[in-house]
Amino acid sequence: MTKTIFITGTSSGLGKGTAILFARRGWNVIATMRDPSKETELNTIPGIQVLALDVTDAAQVNETIASLLRTTPVDVVVNNAGYGLGGPFEGATEEQLQRQIDTNLMGVFRVTQAFIAHFRNRKSGVFITITSIGGHVAFPIFAPYHATKWALEGWSESLWYELSRFGIQVKTVAPGGIRSDFGGRSLTLTSHPAYDELMEGAEKVMRAPKRLANYASPEAIAEVIYTAATDGKPQLRYIAGKGAKMMYRIRNLFGYRFFMKQVNKMFFS
Ligand SMILES: NC(=O)c1ccc[n+]([C@@H]2O[C@H](COP(=O)([O-])OP(=O)(O)OC[C@H]3O[C@@H](n4cnc5c(N)ncnc54)[C@H](OP(=O)(O)O)[C@@H]3O)[C@@H](O)[C@H]2O)c1
Repeated sequence: MTKTIFITGTSSGLGKGTAILFARRGWNVIATMRDPSKETELNTIPGIQVLALDVTDAAQVNETIASLLRTTPVDVVVNNAGYGLGGPFEGATEEQLQRQIDTNLMGVFRVTQAFIAHFRNRKSGVFITITSIGGHVAFPIFAPYHATKWALEGWSESLWYELSRFGIQVKTVAPGGIRSDFGGRSLTLTSHPAYDELMEGAEKVMRAPKRLANYASPEAIAEVIYTAATDGKPQLRYIAGKGAKMMYRIRNLFGYRFFMKQVNKMFFS
C-alpha cells in the first residue's frame, strides 16, 4: 500500500528536497508550507499535495491535520520547518526570541501533538524531527537557535520512551551545513554595536568559500531522512553529512572542553 509522509516547511531547501525524493520513490507526499500561492514546482509533481501550514498558527495546525486525517492515514511526519536567529544574544529583541522558539520548538510540539493519537490508534508511525549538529554542539552567535535545537534533541529522547511502547518511532536527523535558503533569506540577525568586531570575524568563518563548498545538498540529507523513515529501527539519532559526523565524533571522543578550544581557535585566533 502507498505510504504517506507529512512534511513541514517544504517551500525550499531540505523540506522541498525531501518532498521530491519521497514522491519519486512512490510515496504520497503532503508538502506543507506557509504560502502555497508562491509554489511553482511541488504542485506539478505527481503524488505531492501542497497544503498551507504555518507552524506558529496553532488553530491552523490543528484544523489542517484533523481534516487531513479524516481522509488520509499518515505514516511518517517530518518536522522540518525552522530558521536561524543569529547575531549577538545581547541584541536579541523579545519578539525575535519569541518567534525563534515559537517556530523551531513550539511548532514541532504542535505538529507532533496533532498526530500522536492517530499514530497511537494505528500502533505505528514515525516522527522525524530535523534538529542540527547544532543540537549537539554549539558555535558562537547562534545561542537562541542552539537553544531550540538542543531542546528538540532532549525532547525527542524523552518522547522516545513515551511513544515507543505504542509502536511509534521517534527520531531526529541532525545535519551539518546544507545548501539551502538557511543562511540567506531565512536568516534573521540581531545586532548590538559592542559585538561588531566579533560578528565580522564570525561571518568570515561562517561564509568562508571552503566551508560553504563542503555543505551537503538537500538531496543527500533527504536520503538520511528516507533511511530513518523506512529502516524500522528503534534508532533515535541520525547524524547527517560528513561534517556533522566528524564534529559529533570529535565532541564525543574528546569531550566538550577540547571541542570548545577548537571552536575558539577557529573563530577568534
Ligand atoms: N541549512 C543548514 O545548514 C541546516 C543545518 C542543520 C539543520 N538545518 C535545519 O533544517 C531545516 C530546514 O532548513 P533549510 O536548510 O532547508 O532552510 P530553508 O531553505 O530556509 O528552509 C526552511 C523552511 O522552513 C519554513 N518555515 C520557516 N518558518 C515557518 C513557519 N512558521 N511555518 C512553516 N514553515 C516555516 C520556510 O518557509 P518560508 O518559505 O515560508 O519561509 C522554509 O520552507 C530547519 O529546521 C533548519 O534548522 C539546516
